[in-house]
Amino acid sequence: MLMTRRIVFVFLALVLALGGCQLDTGVKIIKMGHAQVVSHPVHQAMVFLGKRLEEKSGGKIKVKVYPNQQLGTERELLELLQIGSVGMTKVSAASLEAFSPEISVLGLPYLFRDDSHITQVLEGEIGKELLLSTEKYWLRGLCFYDAGKRSFYSKTKPIATPADLAGLKVRVQESKMAINMVRGMGGSPTPVSYGELYTALQQGIVDAAENNPPSFYNSRHYEVCKYYSIDEHTAIPDVVLVSTKVWSELSPEEQVWLQEAADESAVYQTKLWKEAVEEALREVQKAGVEISYPSKEPFLEKVAAVYGQVFQEQKQLEALVQRIQQTNK
Ligand code: GCU
Repeated sequence: MLMTRRIVFVFLALVLALGGCQLDTGVKIIKMGHAQVVSHPVHQAMVFLGKRLEEKSGGKIKVKVYPNQQLGTERELLELLQIGSVGMTKVSAASLEAFSPEISVLGLPYLFRDDSHITQVLEGEIGKELLLSTEKYWLRGLCFYDAGKRSFYSKTKPIATPADLAGLKVRVQESKMAINMVRGMGGSPTPVSYGELYTALQQGIVDAAENNPPSFYNSRHYEVCKYYSIDEHTAIPDVVLVSTKVWSELSPEEQVWLQEAADESAVYQTKLWKEAVEEALREVQKAGVEISYPSKEPFLEKVAAVYGQVFQEQKQLEALVQRIQQTNK
């Protein structure tokens, strides 16, 4: 199964030609792949990005968006960007961990005080540094998209306190930080790619997972998991990236258009996000999901140990966490 996926992936990499290709008509087409379904707000924001870029360039640059892991998992998409076979992508910051240890900091539980703290950090100096921290790996971050807060959902019971995670196989993103986080909270972390998670839940390979409301809803995981416990343990943003290969082939003027289109799409996405969260919570409830709002205290009590473990493995993150905590205090 894994082998077949790998072969398909290599085949795709070969046939995809270039991530940004120029047609005879002089029109440049940038391929953009991602893992979500088309009803998800991030897909709509990417389509908006393409529309704005087309307008700004007078029709000379177009973006073709491929949703649903059609071109690969987030990890595979990043690799395709590195070789320039895919031009752009949108991934969770957690998927960038292997390319930028600094970015993994965003996966620490309860890192931010509130929403305005998140905005101050991501839109300030630290955010800029993080976006460019993957450039040495041929991946240039253009902007962040709001991915809200992640909370646990399970097949068997509400997660009222971390003790409820004991003995549960909890799906995590393919990220060391996520593994540390779930282990530190008391669950058994199991990395599974997003596209394979529905089946993994259905077949009992995992008993629980965690995500923001729009993703819980749009992925239809709520059909299998009837308990959604809003503990909001992490606020990991999404990142829109361009392959440096494609970026370097753009003229300085085209680079400005692309950056502006990305920034405008981020503003648009933030607007869509709020509505999407409300809609998701309403719809999953209608479908019989029991939503609960556990006290955050017992989860917060686990944080020190998680941070301790992470700093032991990655000492350099300590100073960055301090800078984040001191941002606009
Ligand atoms: C979020 C994020 C996705 C990611 C997913 C996951 O929905 O926006 O980019 O794939 O989490 O849990 O894997």
